[in-house]
Amino acid sequence: MTKYAVARTDEIKPGGRKIVELEGRSIGILNVDGEYFALLNQCPHAGAELCAYGTIFGKSTAAQPDAPITYERGRSIRCPWHAWEFDIRTGESWYDPQNAKVRKYDVEVFPGSPEDVTNPEEGLQKGPYVMEGFAVSIEDEVVVVDTSRRRPGTRRRQETAAPAVLQATETQLPAPAE
Ligand code: FES
Repeated sequence: MTKYAVARTDEIKPGGRKIVELEGRSIGILNVDGEYFALLNQCPHAGAELCAYGTIFGKSTAAQPDAPITYERGRSIRCPWHAWEFDIRTGESWYDPQNAKVRKYDVEVFPGSPEDVTNPEEGLQKGPYVMEGFAVSIEDEVVVVDTSRRRPGTRRRQETAAPAVLQATETQLPAPAE
């Protein structure tokens, strides 16, 4: 098991994303309406940077043609090269779930500062972030990505994020194509 503290929650605001390098792989952490997800930043079709440039959009379903339509925001990500679409929560392709899948990683949010939560002896490593040189409140929250292969899932422990104290690269998403 290896977990990496990759960002403070306020670095990746709803609709935002951050690309990090862990164990030689580029991984995208996405904040979808306050929930965090992590996917390999590589499309299984031809290798486009799916998380960095993909479009996040929703999904409509209905039991039958004349049934009411249910819409779920922020459910899918569309590849920027050839428009393959994947479920953000599972990494599966909507059209070919058995053969086209993006590696997904578990994400947790821990209370505390990055310095508080990292503990190499317990497998919790310091991730790629840059701290500014001033004090951090204990109300901070840290986004942690688990690179081990285990059960799928994502969890958000607390609702409120502390003020930004990090220098980080964040890309705001374009308005969802709904
Ligand atoms: S590289 Fe992603 S759909 Fe072709």
